[in-house]
Amino acid sequence: MTTPLRLGIAGLGTVGAGVVKILAGSGELIAARAGRPIEVVAVSARSRDKDRGVDLSGYDWEDDPVALAKRPDVDVFVELMGGSDGPAKAATEAALARGAHVVTANKAMLAHHGQALAELAEGNGAVLRFEAAVAGGIPVVKALTEGLAGNRITRVMGVMNGTCNYILTRMETAGLPYDEVFAEANALGYLEADPTLDVGGIDAGHKLSLLAAIAFGTRVAFDQMTLEGIERISIEDIRQAADMGYRIKLLGVAQRTADGLEQRMMPCLVPATSPLGQLEGGTNMVVLEGDAVGQIVLRGAGAGAGPTASAVLSDLIDVARNFRLPTFGQAATTLADAPPSQSAAPAPYYLRMALTDKPGALAKVASVLGEAGVSINRMRQYSHDAGSAPVLIVTHACARADLDAALDALPGTGVVETAPVALRIEEV
Ligand SMILES: NC(=O)c1ccc[n+]([C@@H]2O[C@H](COP(=O)([O-])OP(=O)(O)OC[C@H]3O[C@@H](n4cnc5c(N)ncnc54)[C@H](OP(=O)(O)O)[C@@H]3O)[C@@H](O)[C@H]2O)c1
Repeated sequence: MTTPLRLGIAGLGTVGAGVVKILAGSGELIAARAGRPIEVVAVSARSRDKDRGVDLSGYDWEDDPVALAKRPDVDVFVELMGGSDGPAKAATEAALARGAHVVTANKAMLAHHGQALAELAEGNGAVLRFEAAVAGGIPVVKALTEGLAGNRITRVMGVMNGTCNYILTRMETAGLPYDEVFAEANALGYLEADPTLDVGGIDAGHKLSLLAAIAFGTRVAFDQMTLEGIERISIEDIRQAADMGYRIKLLGVAQRTADGLEQRMMPCLVPATSPLGQLEGGTNMVVLEGDAVGQIVLRGAGAGAGPTASAVLSDLIDVARNFRLPTFGQAATTLADAPPSQSAAPAPYYLRMALTDKPGALAKVASVLGEAGVSINRMRQYSHDAGSAPVLIVTHACARADLDAALDALPGTGVVETAPVALRIEEV
């Protein structure tokens, strides 16, 4: 009789209940693939009485997730509570400190404490796995750590927050303003309790920071990421982008530059005909580029009980098979510190601003851009009521530093009424 792998699951919400359901329904198949049974020993959540649609009667109950993590009969602590600190971190540390393995879906915790937790795990002979934390059901951590392990990764890109993609595509298809679609998404339960995690790009930024660490062998550096959300995207931006053959996506890009690590998560214009441009609704997409393999595109459900639990099971089966892999694909102590950097590669930009409606205003803006070395490809002023005049400018390819210098100088013209929206046009 083979020894079962014994789990303690903390968090029985969308993902936790999803994991219990798969284990209950596909136990034999999983045991065959893992080479031994995977069994739940004990569980923990806040409320013991809640109906979670799964049978928990065969498992011990622990009120305290840290006590669950410390149980000697738990081989793997499965952390599915969420939150960057608090009980998730305390219980994860407690499990790793005694050499128990941890499988988690918690990108916030890893984006902030990934390095320390990976060192703790590896120092105690434990594994810490997080496939479910990035892009839900898409096996992107596995793709980077295993399938592409022989490559120098040159770039990682992705649309990794389904809620933002839903909002942007819904604005376009229904012709509705941001505020209205945001309220709709909220009513549908698509937004996190703190919506800025989604629409501010933070959640997607957490995910990108984890992929960057694996791809480039660097310490997780979420705090160094250039982060911008979708809150200022207007229906007009979406229409103008569509007119030019582009779609606006909250796009993450990470790459090694000559000076360090570039990581940015911000709305960009991407060609409407590109795989990223064609991504609809809540679906996620990750694009990986390696020196040997070329470009790989992975697409699938980025959230939800089934897809996320599927990723948790993949990690659990690896642990059951005794497959040992450092958290970020190489020993945590060998991960490099990389300073934040910006790509030197120039790109065209889309600018929208409201100008004071008086003669010469546009000329002043053109002159500031020109002085900073930013040349205008096309410019359009569209119909408006008296007061301020909305203006759209598409630049020729320019360095971000030059554009930033121009944006800094624009308020000095006295004709710009609101901070310009500046979106990079990414030819992907
Ligand atoms: N939902 C997704 O599609 C998805 C996708 C990828 C990654 N994730 C990540 O997966 C994790 C879980 O997400 P979720 O959507 O499943 O969250 P959720 O539905 O809100 O469930 C959270 C669970 O944690 C329990 N919990 C919270 N605080 C606790 C505490 N102090 N002690 C014990 N239990 C506690 C809750 O208990 P009660 O039920 O009793 O309140 C609940 O069962 C998060 O890190 C999230 O970022 C989620």
